[in-house]
Amino acid sequence: MDLKKLTFTLIFCLVLVEIQAQRIAIMGALDEEIAILKEEMGKYKTQNKGGIDFFLGKLRGQKVVLLKAGVGKVNASYSTAVLTENYRPKTLIFTGVAGGLAPDAMPGDIVIGEQLVQYDFGQIDSTGFQVSPFRRLSGGNHQELFIQADSELAKKAKTAADQSELEPVSGRKPRVFQGIIATGDVFVSSDQKARELYDEFGALATEMEGAAIAHICRTLEIPFVIIRSCSDNANNHARVNFNSFVGPASANSARIVLGILEQM
Ligand code: ADE
Repeated sequence: MDLKKLTFTLIFCLVLVEIQAQRIAIMGALDEEIAILKEEMGKYKTQNKGGIDFFLGKLRGQKVVLLKAGVGKVNASYSTAVLTENYRPKTLIFTGVAGGLAPDAMPGDIVIGEQLVQYDFGQIDSTGFQVSPFRRLSGGNHQELFIQADSELAKKAKTAADQSELEPVSGRKPRVFQGIIATGDVFVSSDQKARELYDEFGALATEMEGAAIAHICRTLEIPFVIIRSCSDNANNHARVNFNSFVGPASANSARIVLGILEQM
């Protein structure tokens, strides 16, 4: 390759990387969680990488890449890895539903994740399960148990939640909580487990992806925030409530994402 061609190729690649670096990534785990945003984008381009569809378009004037991560920590980690390798997003916003754990949280209420904790990573011995206080990384460092979301994004999420026209769920206007979200590879449908997660970690909601995404974003220094709207209370009735409220709760969480984008 002659020098002219090489220079052209280099500039082309740099421009391409620059264009991709400017996108904001928006992720949900389920179709319901990204449906409104996909509709709101109107025109978008679909790219498939590693078996995942990435929807490239604009929302509220911002260049975004939208994707469905799939359910659970493995799916979330894989999707986040493919996303970051291919698009190098400047920010990541996760939107979706959760089981509410705060005693006064009801289906429809919003939880903005200021800290994320993987509650099912630890050891089991004769005394039972103990969560590990840190996670060893391949480079020899440790990832802490509680992972902090970006405080500026969390602030924007709170403003958006307060100012957005959120739809009533089950006849009630959603309340907004900010705090800890507990992540594990389990759909929690147990009064006892819900109480334990609240008592042990101070978690206000539980879900299946947030801490995995947080772990990767912290490692790669990508500012992130996790927005959740409660579809249920992670109690004995969780499955029935989830089926009733996953649609409206997902839609409210997506409205908050739009409100965040308007502030950027
Ligand atoms: N996502 C929504 N509800 C949930 C629950 N009860 N447990 C785990 N993830 C959830």
